[in-house]
Amino acid sequence: MQRIIAMVVFGQPAADFRAYHVLMAIGEHSTVLVTGGAGFIGSAFVHHIASAHPGWTIRVLDALTYCGFREHLEGLDTRVQFTEGDIACPNTAAAAVAGCDAVVNFAAESHVDRSIIDSAPFTHTNVDGVQVLLDACRAHAVGRFVQVSTDEVYGDVAGTDRLSLESDAMAPVSPYARSKTEGEAIALAADDLDVVVTRGSNTYGPRQYPEKVIPLFVTNAIDGGLLPVYGDGTAMRDYMHVDDHAAGIHLVLHEGERGAVYNLGAREQINGNDVAAAIVERVGGGEVRFVPDRPEHDMRYAVDPTAAEALGWTRRWSFIDGLNDTVQWYRANSHWWRAVKASPSFRHFDWG
Ligand SMILES: NC(=O)c1ccc[n+]([C@@H]2O[C@H](COP(=O)([O-])OP(=O)(O)OC[C@H]3O[C@@H](n4cnc5c(N)ncnc54)[C@H](O)[C@@H]3O)[C@@H](O)[C@H]2O)c1
Repeated sequence: MQRIIAMVVFGQPAADFRAYHVLMAIGEHSTVLVTGGAGFIGSAFVHHIASAHPGWTIRVLDALTYCGFREHLEGLDTRVQFTEGDIACPNTAAAAVAGCDAVVNFAAESHVDRSIIDSAPFTHTNVDGVQVLLDACRAHAVGRFVQVSTDEVYGDVAGTDRLSLESDAMAPVSPYARSKTEGEAIALAADDLDVVVTRGSNTYGPRQYPEKVIPLFVTNAIDGGLLPVYGDGTAMRDYMHVDDHAAGIHLVLHEGERGAVYNLGAREQINGNDVAAAIVERVGGGEVRFVPDRPEHDMRYAVDPTAAEALGWTRRWSFIDGLNDTVQWYRANSHWWRAVKASPSFRHFDWG
């Protein structure tokens, strides 16, 4: 039987400060593979587990697509064994999972707007890649598999105040959401493996690729530019700071019940107009501009994270504290996002 240790992990201060209470059910000398660990949430998770588990061997497998960056793992050279490769390649996946106690799958194509233009890479990574990873885990007797999914699988929950429960029917709309729905269905169908799924809400914070709404608005505002708000700006999201998301996945990795799904969300719903106004106020620059809406834009997502809270997780960052942290990070790291925004892979989405 594995040792259960009660531990409290204290992170950065936040006004809504609460401790993360983590019960560790995975041994302190385990080997854990993080796929997509050079992306936004995956790298936050790698930093989180590197500090929480000094005895873990941490592997990262990442294809370094347009949104994967080695520098997101800066300072962790002695802690992380990095492999550049595709999760959907059976040989690569097999080599990466061999000898692992757990796999946490963040690797994904993650931008809804890109999925509307070309869904093929989304099927490749978010569907086929999950199957290949699961087959590799089965062949190498990996203990636990965490599939990182999204609240977008529930589809549009506008017209009600209700929060989506894990037992709700899924009604994904965008090609991104449909690919994530299929990916988690494949994972949960692998009932011979120890699979858990997380469905996180919209996430923001340091190191997010600046095509996504909050870093796009923050970086445009820093340069005194336009903040392109889709439609009438009333689309509502539950914004969660990336450190809270990483901590939730960490807890589910240890404590999630086999075969279960856990919503992770901040219980704070904010619409696009309020996000833009908060950014203009904090940055002291930028101008809101309404632009044609994204096709079939979901008007509301909001999840009920009671099941994850019952495991001991709670969000620590309020939106305003999290936004202050994010603005500070983008101000301090302009060399990174300026280079990204100047690169040919950076896209502007204009639905007009
Ligand atoms: N960002 C959000 O708001 C949010 C919310 C809920 C859930 N999620 C989920 O969290 C996960 C991480 O999202 P993110 O925002 O950090 O995404 P991201 O786009 O910043 O990072 C994705 C990472 O996956 C890597 N990758 C892509 N295809 C790959 C492949 N075939 N093989 C190996 N690596 C590959 C990329 O290089 C990148 O490092 C995704 O599964 C996403 O669906 C994201």
